[in-house]
Amino acid sequence: MVLSAIVLVIVLSPLPRKSVAVSSEGMKDKPATSIANAKLQGLVGTSSCSSRGCHGALDSTGAQDKCGQNEYLQWTRDPHADAYRVLFDARSVKIAEHLNGPKGPKAHEDARCLACHATPQAAELPKENPLHHEEKQFGVGCESCHGSAEKWIVSHTSLTWHKVDPEEKWKTYGMVDVTNLSKRAEQCAGCHVGAPRRDGMPLRNMNHDMIAAGHPRLLFEFGTFQANMPPHWRDNKVNQEAYLWTVGQFATAEASLKLLEARVDSGPWPEFAEYDCFACHHGLTASSWRQSEIPRGRKPGALPWGSWSFALMRQLEKQMQVPSSLKQELDSLESSMQKPIPDRKVVAKGVQKTLEQLRRVTGQLDRKRWDEAKSRKLIQAVTGKGSPVHHPSWDSAEQLYLALYALNESEYDKRVRDLLDELTPLRAFRPGFDSPLSIALPNGKEKAFHPAQFLEKLKANRN
Ligand code: HEC
Ligand code: HEC
Ligand code: HEC
Ligand code: HEC
Repeated sequence: MVLSAIVLVIVLSPLPRKSVAVSSEGMKDKPATSIANAKLQGLVGTSSCSSRGCHGALDSTGAQDKCGQNEYLQWTRDPHADAYRVLFDARSVKIAEHLNGPKGPKAHEDARCLACHATPQAAELPKENPLHHEEKQFGVGCESCHGSAEKWIVSHTSLTWHKVDPEEKWKTYGMVDVTNLSKRAEQCAGCHVGAPRRDGMPLRNMNHDMIAAGHPRLLFEFGTFQANMPPHWRDNKVNQEAYLWTVGQFATAEASLKLLEARVDSGPWPEFAEYDCFACHHGLTASSWRQSEIPRGRKPGALPWGSWSFALMRQLEKQMQVPSSLKQELDSLESSMQKPIPDRKVVAKGVQKTLEQLRRVTGQLDRKRWDEAKSRKLIQAVTGKGSPVHHPSWDSAEQLYLALYALNESEYDKRVRDLLDELTPLRAFRPGFDSPLSIALPNGKEKAFHPAQFLEKLKANRN
């Protein structure tokens, strides 16, 4: 009932730029560009959001019951606004040269790069599409996170839009509910972990080829990344750091699984980016901890899979106390992935089963059943003394550190604070702990990162 009214009531702000040209076609809710090309994926483009009367105001409306309308300006200070320009940097030029050869496509022409460094829906638009050139210029534009706006660009300016159920906004209109933290984390993970080709979005795959060519490794932790993104929304000051961490752990695991499913289908195999980088990239010394501490459940030399994305997943599942066999499925998938050449079919099946179990667990995470206090308890348990770490590694050490950080952000705890200070006195890991690789000390000695020692230290002070 509300819905039918909404489509007709267009008030509040002047129509976004792109929709104006449409009226001659008599299609009110469709911008001209989408009519010009059906392959648009429902994209209207960031310039449709950025006018002064829409989201491009210079200062906030200050209203409590609606948005500030200055989101565009805030976003221009965001790393995402710079994401396309980065592709012209010397570093990108080199990466593209390594991948494509000196005469091959440049980084800013390579659809693989554009899939994450521009609004993904715009990455593969054909040249004749009006948005082909324009939308990329904005980098990671509005519709990267909020969803293609073709079906909601007009309706969302109505006075009654806020009454529409967020679920309905997504299903009928395609607007992503970024107020739902699981949905939000999923959006971020699409680029910060990766994603298969689906729903008009291209494949986003940061594989070992690109990393070896010079791209930074992608390590996503939702709470940290959100804290580092300048907010263009009203600060509602809800304390949710522990919840963000929890949601982020599961979103990262889910995104990694979906990406693995896509990797099974095409591309290099086995995909080295699935494994602990430092298992292959480390110095060879006669008496390394790798020989003295053969990790549980893994044969010497077997590839350690999922060291970042699944570092804490088994303990998390255990603490969530939901009937599921996530641990068994993960263990079984892990043993398939540890084989020198993992069987693609077996892996694909394993991913399906693991995803199924994962979703049973994440089903608990919605706000009606879950809250900040529960998340704090979860982190307490996972970082606590009695909780084993699946494989001691640089990745699991860092994950545990970030978990403690979130815990302390959520509720100040002197003991946790002291421990964090001890581990990272200058807000960075101590020399010797700051890299998983051996480093030469000024006194001529060598200091190597020793994950088991680090984890021991970290847990020794936990109750
Ligand atoms: C799966 C998504 C994804 C793909 C594909 C991708 N990037 Fe990135 N790129 C990112 C993310 C996310 C970052 C930010 C890294 C971080 O801090 O976690 C980044 C960072 C970078 C940086 C460092 C930027 C800086 O400010 O220092 C460069 C350069 C870069 N990418 C170039 C490229 C090039 C060239 C390609 C194509 C060969 C490419 N990227 C493909 C997601 C991607
Ligand atoms: C990297 C992801 C991302 C991008 C890109 C992005 N947003 Fe957002 N946006 C968010 C998140 C997250 C929120 C917070 C939602 C909340 O807390 O309710 C948000 C909130 C908003 C809100 C609601 C603000 C409020 O106070 O309620 C508006 C309006 C908005 N964004 C507009 C834009 C516009 C316009 C652009 C492009 C110029 C844009 N966004 C680009 C992620 C993004
Ligand atoms: C369409 C892909 C895409 C989406 C979706 C996306 N990002 Fe990004 N993000 C990038 C790229 C590419 C970069 C690197 C940009 C650059 O270096 O200029 C980046 C950079 C960042 C950075 C800066 C990282 C650094 O090392 O300085 C933060 C923080 C960040 N993103 C947070 C988020 C959050 C939080 C979300 C979800 C609300 C999100 N991103 C969604 C692609 C994306
Ligand atoms: C299964 C073993 C293996 C794993 C796991 C692996 N790599 Fe590699 N990597 C290699 C090999 C082999 C090369 C090619 C080395 C050469 O050309 O000298 C390479 C090359 C590289 C290079 C370019 C050459 C160099 O040494 O700088 C980088 C950077 C790199 N890898 C980073 C990573 C990162 C980051 C990860 C984890 C996401 C990773 N690798 C995981 C085996 C691996």
